[in-house]
Amino acid sequence: MKLSKIWLNINGADRMVVCNPEKDSLAEVLRRIGLTSVKVGCGTGVCGSCSVILNGKVIRSCTKKLKAVEEYSKIITLEGIGTPGNLHPLQVAWMNYGAIQCGFCTPGFIVSAYALLLENNNPTREEVRDWFQKHRNVCRCTGYKQLVDAVIAAAKVVRGEAKIEDITFQPSKDGGCYGKPLVRPSALAKVTGLADYGDDIELKMPAETLHAAIVQPRVAHHAKILKIDTSEAEKMPGVVKVITYKDIKENGGTNQMAEANLHERSTVTLPSRKILCEDKIFRYGDVVALAIADTQDHARAAAAKVKVEIEQLPEYLNYLDAVMPDAIRVHDDTPNLFCQQPVLKGAALDDASKVADIIDNSAYSAEGSFYSTREPHLSIEGCTVQAYFDEDDFLTIHCKSQGLYTSISRIGNSIGVPREKLRIVQNFTGASFGWSTNAGDLCLVGAAAVAVKGPVALSLTYEEHQHFSGKRCPCHSNGRVACDENGKITAAEFDFGMDHGAYSWGGDHVIEKQVRFTFFPYYLPHVAGLTRAANTNHTFGTAYRSYGSPQAYTLSEALMDMLAEKAGIDPFEFRWRNIAREGQTNINSHPFKEYPMEEMMNIMRPYYEKAVTEAKAADTPEKKRGVGIAWGGFNVTEGGTDQCTITLELAPDNMIVKYDTWQEMGQGGDVGSLMVTLEALKPMGVTPERIRLAQNDSKICPDSGMSAASRSHYMNGNATKLAAEKLMDAMRKDDGTYRTYDEMVTEGIETRYEAKYSCTATPGITRLNPNTGIGDPTPAYTYVLNLAEVEVDTATGKTKVLRFVCVYDVGKIGNIDAVNGQAYGGISHSIGFALSEDYSDVKKHTNIASSGVPYIKDIPDEIILIPHETYRNDGPFGSSGASEAFQSSGHIAVLNAIYNACGVRIYEMPAKPEKVKAGLDILAAGGKIEPPKKYFLGSDLYEELENIKTNPVAFRGDDMFNALGDSPDERFY
Ligand code: FES
Ligand code: FES
Repeated sequence: MKLSKIWLNINGADRMVVCNPEKDSLAEVLRRIGLTSVKVGCGTGVCGSCSVILNGKVIRSCTKKLKAVEEYSKIITLEGIGTPGNLHPLQVAWMNYGAIQCGFCTPGFIVSAYALLLENNNPTREEVRDWFQKHRNVCRCTGYKQLVDAVIAAAKVVRGEAKIEDITFQPSKDGGCYGKPLVRPSALAKVTGLADYGDDIELKMPAETLHAAIVQPRVAHHAKILKIDTSEAEKMPGVVKVITYKDIKENGGTNQMAEANLHERSTVTLPSRKILCEDKIFRYGDVVALAIADTQDHARAAAAKVKVEIEQLPEYLNYLDAVMPDAIRVHDDTPNLFCQQPVLKGAALDDASKVADIIDNSAYSAEGSFYSTREPHLSIEGCTVQAYFDEDDFLTIHCKSQGLYTSISRIGNSIGVPREKLRIVQNFTGASFGWSTNAGDLCLVGAAAVAVKGPVALSLTYEEHQHFSGKRCPCHSNGRVACDENGKITAAEFDFGMDHGAYSWGGDHVIEKQVRFTFFPYYLPHVAGLTRAANTNHTFGTAYRSYGSPQAYTLSEALMDMLAEKAGIDPFEFRWRNIAREGQTNINSHPFKEYPMEEMMNIMRPYYEKAVTEAKAADTPEKKRGVGIAWGGFNVTEGGTDQCTITLELAPDNMIVKYDTWQEMGQGGDVGSLMVTLEALKPMGVTPERIRLAQNDSKICPDSGMSAASRSHYMNGNATKLAAEKLMDAMRKDDGTYRTYDEMVTEGIETRYEAKYSCTATPGITRLNPNTGIGDPTPAYTYVLNLAEVEVDTATGKTKVLRFVCVYDVGKIGNIDAVNGQAYGGISHSIGFALSEDYSDVKKHTNIASSGVPYIKDIPDEIILIPHETYRNDGPFGSSGASEAFQSSGHIAVLNAIYNACGVRIYEMPAKPEKVKAGLDILAAGGKIEPPKKYFLGSDLYEELENIKTNPVAFRGDDMFNALGDSPDERFY
């Protein structure tokens, strides 16, 4: 290899770098010399996270080879813009204007914005948006609006029209922080580029650390493996070992990830997922071997030399094909259709088919079949993990896990390390939105470290990550709903088929959501519904914000509009007539926990009326305007068995240390934990500076559960209250003042207090009955009412969302930036889900751009969020949880708006321009858009419901979880 020496002026100083100009990108070189604010996400020029300024111009440094950089070029990275002791106004604004979530995109955005302000220090909002669009800066977390707010605020300081203090939140005068702005503890590291994400950790590990690369053949979705030949790979330069499943087994591992399908109707008997494939490939992204070498390049070169011989098997790439009677089994132990859950209400409890009769005999009815997409998460950072044995011989895995203890359970016995010797540490995380609830990458790097008995780092390319990680389950559904002459719903029937992909874990859980959130939060007297999950050969279904509920709203909120039209009633008014009123029950025959629906609609009504008026006025033949509305919502917590443990300790320096695993994915796990601790310790007058967070290391932190299910604030807040009471009781003196650490020690008083909060504290929570769907699995709900205004270009079929309004109720708000951050972000994902996002074509959907990620101009600048705060009695300080609801139904508000604009109903997502245009052409020719034919989902709905009725299974309630162990993590074997 030939290398070159080159001088570059970096952040004002001349520096000499040694590189391979043909091969090295500017991003690699800058990172190698320590400028790790330069983040590499996509690595292919489509995300902007690696933006730097080269000779005055913003460029994406991942695709800029050194040979194309002239010697003595001037380069500016984030490190040259501001430091912790000397922050640039942009950095201050980013911290104070809600512009930071995961922070992975932040350096690229700030560098890009800095260049903009050099050119134009008084940009309009649209000019800022145009700039970020032009430079391909993508933020997947924030929904963009706050980033523009931050640039506008910083520009004022740059122009001398405002001071730094004017754009900095001042601490609350009364000492309280709850419900008030509070800067995230991690914000400073994120805006200065000092936060080390996985690839930064890898770069900074000791020199003896080895590097692994995956062998992901990408030759078939379903195949028998005839031979894995590693001989050539083993001879490649730098290779230490090439491992297959045989090595994992030789090292004492089972090679299968722990898994439990606990639903009474699950037919799964064996864990479905291997770490490294043995005799079969089940999906395109499966991994068959790992090459471990001295450098990443050597590992990748060796991985490319592993030969895999296969025999192709039939491939089932969607639910409909996998449940056909002639389909072979994906997994030998179970039929492809492996779990189902009915829901029956009213007359259906006696005889489900009576619901069909009621619908047939009602004044109006609507029916339709719908498909919602295999939505990819598209976090900017992909899979990056590191493993080593620590000083106590714990196999320590650094990762992006959304549930450290769940990851330990999922790893189980798979890699030959006992659970009690596994330690999981969360790195700074460039977001996940759900995919990192799965521990597949942890198993890979753990198996590699066990094989070489030393430190190993594994970083997938974005394309490898895209194929390796799970996605939101695509869903086919059929439904009918009917109403009387007054527009009151009489009955509904529905049938969902969830494509859970190659692996089963979670499939028994995701199907609970459709039988809870279809037609939420309306009152329906009679319901006959069913949802089913099947294995296919596409990538596996996994958690994603609003897990399982967008599929439900895709059907029900479309049918609400369709029925309103049949009945000749305005869609807003139709919803008003049907929202549940105090005491009325949901489809699971239990009351809603709260009834904010009328008030929320009253808040939304003027926005709706204004939008309708404006849409009519602005409508032209070329640009059709429309308004769509959709209710949504979600549960809070994982239900009756949910538990959370945290610890508070008074440290020798009199700091109060909080230990928990509130995993910080960008949603605010740090600020949330700080805020509930401050509130719980309010009687002691504790300020933020006195609290030290010790988070997300399973060796020192108790199990606070996953960051999922909108549970963290609710569970952690309640546990923190309990621990704080214990600590304050111990510290309180007779005169009402509080002891110092030294006084506690002198008096022999314990300084460390752990508390566990369990959902069993909320009476009446039960799982769904597997025969009827009756149940009450949540202590609280969250509610959203979404309104989208769109413009459809009739020449191209392209839809632009012009404005989005969301009225929401998540209880008392603890931190408005964190809650609104979830709202803006969730809405932006919903718009992408409706219009562009997809991971169905594995050859095409290989990066965030080709998978349809929304860039800034795809998201409206005008997103109006209106909180309505109903106090939650069992929640901490009146709060519940906040995240999932915001991505539950925004997509269907957009799809309803498209119909309202131009008469094209999108039954099968996403609403890409060509699909809308095809509909417009049919209508222009005087034709009628034919909806999809009713899908065959495995059997007739009513026959299946009758079958379930005549073959009931024993309902084991929550005992089935508890019998397996005290902790939710014991659920997995
Ligand atoms: Fe360079 Fe994405 S554009 S990492
Ligand atoms: Fe922008 Fe996460 S904060 S990608």
